[in-house]
Amino acid sequence: MLSATLVWIRYSNYSLLTRSQRISHENLRLRDPNWLKSAEKWFQEKAGAPNDAPVRPPMFAPYQLRDMQLKNRIVVSPMAQYKAVEGCPTDWHLIHYGERAKGGAGLVYTEMTCVSPKGRITPGCPGLYAPEHEAAWARLVDFIHQETDAKICCQIGHSGRKGSTQVGWETMDAPLPAWNWDLVSASAIAWSPQNDTPREINRSEMDQIKAEFVSATEMAARCGFDMIELHAAHGYLISSFISPKSNIRTDSYGGSLENRMRYPLEVFAAMREVWPTEKPMSVRISATDWLGDEGVTPEEAVDIARAFSEAGVDIVDVSAGQTRLRASPFTVACSRRRFPTESAMTRGLPPWRLAISMRRTMPTRS
Ligand SMILES: Cc1cc2nc3c(=O)[nH]c(=O)nc-3n(C[C@H](O)[C@H](O)[C@H](O)COP(=O)(O)O)c2cc1C
Repeated sequence: MLSATLVWIRYSNYSLLTRSQRISHENLRLRDPNWLKSAEKWFQEKAGAPNDAPVRPPMFAPYQLRDMQLKNRIVVSPMAQYKAVEGCPTDWHLIHYGERAKGGAGLVYTEMTCVSPKGRITPGCPGLYAPEHEAAWARLVDFIHQETDAKICCQIGHSGRKGSTQVGWETMDAPLPAWNWDLVSASAIAWSPQNDTPREINRSEMDQIKAEFVSATEMAARCGFDMIELHAAHGYLISSFISPKSNIRTDSYGGSLENRMRYPLEVFAAMREVWPTEKPMSVRISATDWLGDEGVTPEEAVDIARAFSEAGVDIVDVSAGQTRLRASPFTVACSRRRFPTESAMTRGLPPWRLAISMRRTMPTRS
């Protein structure tokens, strides 16, 4: 009991000192190197590092999810590259992801990889819905496994009402100048006055899209990905069910949070069923709509995370916003410091694990 209390004091001291971010981890080393070293050693032991491993900051401690062992806690966030051709990843992707894996990250995420041509955000987004996609991703995954000790996670999603839009260096989220495809979403509410109004998705389309998620998951398993993530954030199809601002359905998929979560959980469960048991699965959520009580609030996000956790998710990837044009702040980059949900989400953290997203780079125009 006494030793558990001492451990708790050591850990909460560390949190108290660093949480405001006025005192950094390395600044603590200047103030009291011995104390910090003992905290690092304790953390490393908890993380399962071998006894003789050199003592290093927590970022370099290993991390385990199911059977996936990461060598450190550096994770490359999903970043749309807009460089796929007909949904097929190209040499751009091999070099982009391969380079980040070579660079030493423990885990590299792919950008949102779409379950169908109509599920793409832009014509430059990659997919996992054709044999040539599977072959190209398998080559990339093999390269990373053969040449580096990084792991790779495939983020799988459907664009919903934010589909059929321009690539990142044109006008983001604006419709294509021509050849737009028809959109579906939880409800018939356009992303902006410029975007086409989606059709409210019906039950048979929900079944079809769920089957596409399952098929993409099976392809990801055959490619050898170490982990997959269901993209349920940023206003795309799954997210459109969760936010009350994009879901005004009057059937059993709209209204209460329980109803709004019904389809996202159904899709998650179907994916989990075909994804290998020993491999972890994550879900990315927008933990606030940035609309106060009108949208998803941090408190509701705890219930969303709990529901996914009960369905078998291994880690919740916490992002924010991009679910509604009228949101404040409206920003693509939602860094940790601008994240009011963090304390609400981390209260009573176990058994969930949280990942808060990291910095990204923009690809250059070809
Ligand atoms: C160009 C660009 C592309 C992105 N693509 C994705 C994506 O495919 N999937 C996703 O979940 N988030 C995507 N994001 C969000 C990032 O993963 C990340 O959460 C965001 O940039 C916030 O992190 P930061 O504040 O450290 O930059 C993208 C962000 C940018 C700027």
